[in-house]
Amino acid sequence: MKALILAGGAGTRLRPITHTSAKQLVPVANKPILFYGIEAMVSAGITEIGVIVGDTRDEVMAALGDGSQWGATITFIPQDAPLGLAHCVLIASDFLGDDDFVMYLGDNLLEQDLAAFVHAFESQRGSFDPPAAQILLKRVPDPHRFGIAELDAEGNVVRLVEKPADPPTDLALVGVYLFDRTINDAVRAIAPSPRGELEITDAIQWLVDQGRRVRQEELTGWWIDTGKLTPLLEANRLLLEKIETRVDGEVDETSVLDGRVVVEAGANIVNSTLRGPLVIGAGTVIENSFVGPFSAIGNDCRVTHSEIEHSVVMESSTITDIPRLEDSLIGKDVVVTRTQVRPRALRLMVGDHCQIDVE
Ligand code: DAU
Repeated sequence: MKALILAGGAGTRLRPITHTSAKQLVPVANKPILFYGIEAMVSAGITEIGVIVGDTRDEVMAALGDGSQWGATITFIPQDAPLGLAHCVLIASDFLGDDDFVMYLGDNLLEQDLAAFVHAFESQRGSFDPPAAQILLKRVPDPHRFGIAELDAEGNVVRLVEKPADPPTDLALVGVYLFDRTINDAVRAIAPSPRGELEITDAIQWLVDQGRRVRQEELTGWWIDTGKLTPLLEANRLLLEKIETRVDGEVDETSVLDGRVVVEAGANIVNSTLRGPLVIGAGTVIENSFVGPFSAIGNDCRVTHSEIEHSVVMESSTITDIPRLEDSLIGKDVVVTRTQVRPRALRLMVGDHCQIDVE
């Protein structure tokens, strides 16, 4: 069993952050989203991993390296343009060979461990009617934003549609799929959709139309497609819910730590209150400030005379004299300062290397 992780694509919905960074490398709870996917594969016993990379390939390749930090072997597969999820399977054919594989969308985050999902597929390989594909489904309130599945009374997958205007069900396709080699024929047989992409939903529909079995499971835990700001902050919140207190940095005697907090080595907390769950990255200085629940402050940041809550601040950024910053995503190497006293809250999404002076 191999894994194919998709980390190309355009990332238009997280602009301006994705003007300079890959959306799959935005950190949640101070770890790039993509790393959670790699870890999920490795803990399901899959170490041969292909990663589709697009325009942001340099950054993704630098972040993942050869995969040895996870005990995995990573093969990078460049995609010239984001021509669709099924196109990714097409261009990965040399890497995939005739092997079964998990396809994992690099911007998806799941609570559920995937080992049982993978095992369920493998254990049916020798059966009388082995599935050619296995999909994970989750009921969602906004089905028009996803691929949607229709099942018959016995729970068999009968139809799949990509982002339908009039969704037949609320069962969304989660971004984790299992395939046998038949999918290679499917991705060659389908035509691009009206939005010009080779859709994996159409490829799976092709399998159904060929009489091949597509097994489905409904996901129990949470699942987030992190491609937009609100779900990204929600993913950050859900992952911070699971952290345990660990203080490796310096905290002076005038500071107060409340709730579950992680203060990484080399961080320095001076005359401040940290109310968890939250994480403060290595080398970061928090001075005369309040950092509230569900905040993840990256490495080498500086927060002075400010209040931050429910926000992600990426590495090397500086927040000074901001009475309240909430529900925000601040890119790398950003400076947010204020020149006049105005006690109002800021909600910001700021790309990398910006300077914001609030008047
Ligand atoms: O998140 C689940 C949804 O993901 C499914 O319900 C949909 O059926 C499926 O089509 C997909 O929809 P999205 O519109 O969210 O896909 P997105 O364009 O965001 O791409 C998902 C990941 O794959 C993302 O990490 C970028 C990468 N990608 C995407 C395309 C289109 C590539 O590497 N190459 C591509 O050509």
